[in-house]
Amino acid sequence: MDRSPRRPAAALGVAVAVVLGRLALAADGDPPIRALHWIAPGADPLRAIGVQPTECLQIPADAAEALQVEVGRAAFRTPLLLGGQAARAGLACETCHRNGRSNPDFQFPGVSGAAGTADVTQSLFSSHRGDGIDNPRPIPDLSGPKTGLKVDQSPDSPALEGFIRGLVVEEFDGDPPPPAVLQGLAAYVRALQPSACPATAHEPVDVRRLMSDARRALAAARAEIALRDRPAAILMLAAARARLALIDERLDADRFAGLRARLRAASGRLAEAQGRLRQGQDPPDADFVRWLAEARPLEADLVAAQPATLFNPIRLQAAANRPLPH
Ligand code: HEC
Repeated sequence: MDRSPRRPAAALGVAVAVVLGRLALAADGDPPIRALHWIAPGADPLRAIGVQPTECLQIPADAAEALQVEVGRAAFRTPLLLGGQAARAGLACETCHRNGRSNPDFQFPGVSGAAGTADVTQSLFSSHRGDGIDNPRPIPDLSGPKTGLKVDQSPDSPALEGFIRGLVVEEFDGDPPPPAVLQGLAAYVRALQPSACPATAHEPVDVRRLMSDARRALAAARAEIALRDRPAAILMLAAARARLALIDERLDADRFAGLRARLRAASGRLAEAQGRLRQGQDPPDADFVRWLAEARPLEADLVAAQPATLFNPIRLQAAANRPLPH
């Protein structure tokens, strides 16, 4: 299916590893929010990570197709989908395609040229074999008109699935995604349509949206467990946990130690469910029902705390502009 020439090494995975190595040398130089690693110097942090473009998603009426889209939507936001180094850095599809759009502020040393570009396709689109770091292209808006995109998205063509698989396996050095996840990613990309764009162009990145994403990923996990697809369910639980981690990193460690402990406990319970699935057992569905019930008061407390966290644009701006320690 994928006839593209193989590259000796996955350029993006290698570049990410190099950058992470440098960061490790910078001792405790980690910025408070991981996404700050890949925004262009001088970019407005509020635009880059305080708000996001709205999502143009047309959820299919058919329940099975809608599940595929939900699985893809969650996977699209999960660093674990990509290979080890990219996953460690926290990169996911949504890093470059924020809410399925583009990211004019993305810049990653060795991967980008100008802000808003990345080299992800050398081995996919071109027969040229190089070192993989000299061909950055503008990140396309996946929610733009299909006629303006390069890869054929018609459901009867395998081109989109082949392209996405190549991205994950060749560019990011990831394991081949479980088939339901690959189908889901393609279904999600197909369901991004200009006609589904909301009237407002941007929305805040906030607790409610991240918790909603976590619940949607959990719903997808429960559906995959019911379909006896454990590998897909494990990834969906990873997607939910990744959303909780994005909330966690915006809370000050000392001031919000209690809330962070509750978030981590919630993530830990999903990790236990992943553990069971890995051992070939299905976690009892009642555990997930209880998880959802407990997540409600947790969310309310997080929302109440939000103004005093890095979800507050003023605090975000101040934290992002703080120079990194040497
Ligand atoms: C590091 C940034 C980055 C990440 C991460 C990324 N992409 Fe992209 N993506 C790009 C760039 C840049 C292009 C354009 C390549 C070109 O024009 O040659 C692209 C192209 C695409 C296209 C083809 C668009 C077209 O014109 O038809 C699809 C589909 C796509 N990406 C989906 C994904 C999915 C799914 C993931 C996660 C598995 C992902 N991308 C991760 C940067 C990224």
